[in-house]
Amino acid sequence: MLNSTIKPQPLPRGPKGRPLVGVLPQMRRRPLQFMTECARTYGDALQVRIAHLQACLFSHPDLVEEVLVTQNRKFIKPQLLKQASEVLGNGLLTSDGDFWLRQRRLAQPAFHRDRIANYAHLMADFSDQMTDRWRDGQTMDIHEEMMALTLQIVARALFGADVSDKTEIVGRALDSALQRFTERMSLMRLLDRFPLPRNVRFRQRQRELDGIIYGIIESRRNSETESDDLLSMLLHAQDTDGSQMSNQQLHDEVITLFLAGHETTAIALSWTWMLLAQHPEAEAKLHDELDRVLGSRPPTLADLPNLRWTEMVVKESMRLYPPAWRVGRQAAEDCTIGGFQIPKGMQVVASQWVIHRDPRWYHRPDDFLPQRWDGDLARQLPKFAYFPFGGGPRRCIGDEFAKMEAALILAAIARRFKLSLIPNQQIDYFPSITLRPKYGIRVKVERRGGGVR
Ligand code: HEM
Repeated sequence: MLNSTIKPQPLPRGPKGRPLVGVLPQMRRRPLQFMTECARTYGDALQVRIAHLQACLFSHPDLVEEVLVTQNRKFIKPQLLKQASEVLGNGLLTSDGDFWLRQRRLAQPAFHRDRIANYAHLMADFSDQMTDRWRDGQTMDIHEEMMALTLQIVARALFGADVSDKTEIVGRALDSALQRFTERMSLMRLLDRFPLPRNVRFRQRQRELDGIIYGIIESRRNSETESDDLLSMLLHAQDTDGSQMSNQQLHDEVITLFLAGHETTAIALSWTWMLLAQHPEAEAKLHDELDRVLGSRPPTLADLPNLRWTEMVVKESMRLYPPAWRVGRQAAEDCTIGGFQIPKGMQVVASQWVIHRDPRWYHRPDDFLPQRWDGDLARQLPKFAYFPFGGGPRRCIGDEFAKMEAALILAAIARRFKLSLIPNQQIDYFPSITLRPKYGIRVKVERRGGGVR
């Protein structure tokens, strides 16, 4: 804890970068390597200029805790993220202050553990339906498969059966929204105003998606029958003064949940398949566990406490390849973090990628070792040495949903199939908003022997 008599210090300077653009080129070209080098060379707190923005990079878990938890009220979401509101509206991810708090209060009960338990069977059933279509020896891009699967799951969890015939349109619109979102984050928004084909396409797909979402909201409002999907819960949620969300708010939250909830989980799974294929021992342990606990039946929610290795595999995969690879904030007022002066308006960035691979917290930090989570490592680590879902009041609302989904999908698929990487392919990551596989991940799927699967 900082002694209040010690005078706050200015942030140490990081690399200077170039005139005008500062370190923007490095941040755009190789952000993960650049941030890692900065942290290892200049320390846990440093200041850089990214074009016209002053930014600081925090790489110590205690500093992250101060920003996200202890002093969270002094920070808002960064300006750059707010530019994505053309896509996300004023949903949970982008909003701030009292508006955000009210929306979070209204949405929170829908993500309670007991509520999301209802979706476990969807996760296992959709995984089985997908693998029913797989042929022994078939090759495919597993990232594409995971994206389609998690989209189907989140669509059904949000809308029940109402969207089953429209998932493809929703998927297309979300793809173009994500692309737009990525471009906006990369300062390309000046091109948005011109009638370029991609802008026309984007608007057309947005209109289609809006039409579907508003259509479903309206028909729900007029319906007598109760549904137990997320939309119904959001629609009926009441604040303490009895007020409810408007159609526009519901729409914005639904888009946010679609976007925040589908790609992240797909990415977590895609990297997990890659890591398992590269680590046959870890894969064999997974198959043993699934054979022992499940035999020849699909996994259920009740199995999860017994699928410890499955859980550790996902946890370790999200340590090495965190789908959200950084969190960003903007200082809403002058403040002091870890003894350093943070002026109002400064951008604060902390990267899961950097901290999750820090040798101060992890032995053999770059190695995939699910067994590291077997003892009480999680309890010994500083709280923010592992934070794939962020933390504090803005912690991911879908964290339990995502963990359950990842474990059930992994179990449902790996009990039936073994995945191996197609040799000589280039696998790389693309750190945009999320940490996607840049060229996909090509695998061969082989049916596992034994009983009826
Ligand atoms: C492995 C999967 C996931 C990862 C790694 C992940 C990661 C994160 C992180 C790091 C944040 C905090 C961002 C910040 O503090 O700036 C966040 C927020 C959020 N996530 Fe997730 N997420 C995942 C899955 C989901 C799912 C499945 C949903 C919904 C169905 C979801 C909905 C949200 C929402 C709405 C927020 C904003 C919460 C708020 O600010 O109140 N996420 N997520």
